[in-house]
Amino acid sequence: MIDLRSDTVTKPTEQMREAMLTAPVGDDVYAEDPTVIELELRVARLLGHEAGLFCVSGSMCNMLGIRLLVEPGQEVVCDVQAHIARAEMGGHAAAHGLTMRTFPSTRGRLQLSEVAKIIAPSAGPYLVSTAAVAVENTHNFGGGTIQPLEELTAVAELCREHGIGYHLDGARLWNAQVATGVPLEAYGRLFDTVSVCFSKGLGAPVGSVLVSTTENIAKARVMRKRLGGGWRQAGVLAAACLYALDHHVQRLADDHASARIFAGAVAACVPTAVVPDAVETNVVVIDTGTVPAAPIAVAAAERGVQVSALGPFMIRAVTHLDVTADDCELAGQLVGKLLSG
Ligand SMILES: Cc1ncc(COP(=O)(O)O)c(C=O)c1O
Repeated sequence: MIDLRSDTVTKPTEQMREAMLTAPVGDDVYAEDPTVIELELRVARLLGHEAGLFCVSGSMCNMLGIRLLVEPGQEVVCDVQAHIARAEMGGHAAAHGLTMRTFPSTRGRLQLSEVAKIIAPSAGPYLVSTAAVAVENTHNFGGGTIQPLEELTAVAELCREHGIGYHLDGARLWNAQVATGVPLEAYGRLFDTVSVCFSKGLGAPVGSVLVSTTENIAKARVMRKRLGGGWRQAGVLAAACLYALDHHVQRLADDHASARIFAGAVAACVPTAVVPDAVETNVVVIDTGTVPAAPIAVAAAERGVQVSALGPFMIRAVTHLDVTADDCELAGQLVGKLLSG
């Protein structure tokens, strides 16, 4: 089976498992796990922030990061395809009492003008006040879209001007960094809170880190425990993340190349389905036109290739550590053949 449903499907390598096995550990609720502490500090430094908090998932880091910036009854604004709006099961509202409004985007690409149009800071007694803007880089449902640094900077300035917070869902920020060469710190410093994931393209089994100021992270630590997210000898998991930082970041370039190979093979059969040159990182979104996506995904799985039908006419394929360029070529040919009937 060639599994391109998501980059979350990777299994830890032997070397990663070895690193997990030998990691020094302690009780992280007492802040005594040396491997967790090392990971948190290292990620905070990489992103230009003071402190970090290791959490079970990207969703939890997003929930904590946004809650630090938004009080119950206030809103966070984000684009209509954002993971926080579509795929975090309403957690921000259900657990933290926040509301959300969304602005339109093409392929998830951030535009200052759309953000400026929608924000309502200090909206008074009749309207919900905007307390933060959240941005996703790279953008998952947009198709691995990289946000331009200039636009991110312009929105940071807008937020500062209006005294509102700025959160980055950087689940795949590593992919943006490798594709553009922009240092992680240059992205990270623009934001008040940043979450990054290790369980996507970096191939760790579990784990995300939230970074911010020391004061914010101390508050987030309390909120994490309130959500049931305090954990004990979590160093076995942090060790996998540290291993991934050392060994699996630069190789993301291979995933980006494989994504283009997959897209090229699909486009060779159905040129309208995808533009290979528009594939920016490791996510490929295919427009199935008038052909329903779900039966194509089922037929592909029956023939040994798994992709996701994420909309009635949209298929997503994501490349990762556990597939080769040849796998992606074969998978693209199959999906292309199925699409062309
Ligand atoms: C952009 C983005 N943000 C956040 C998450 C949430 O990560 P997790 O599944 O670890 O909660 C995902 C997961 O796919 C994602 O793609």
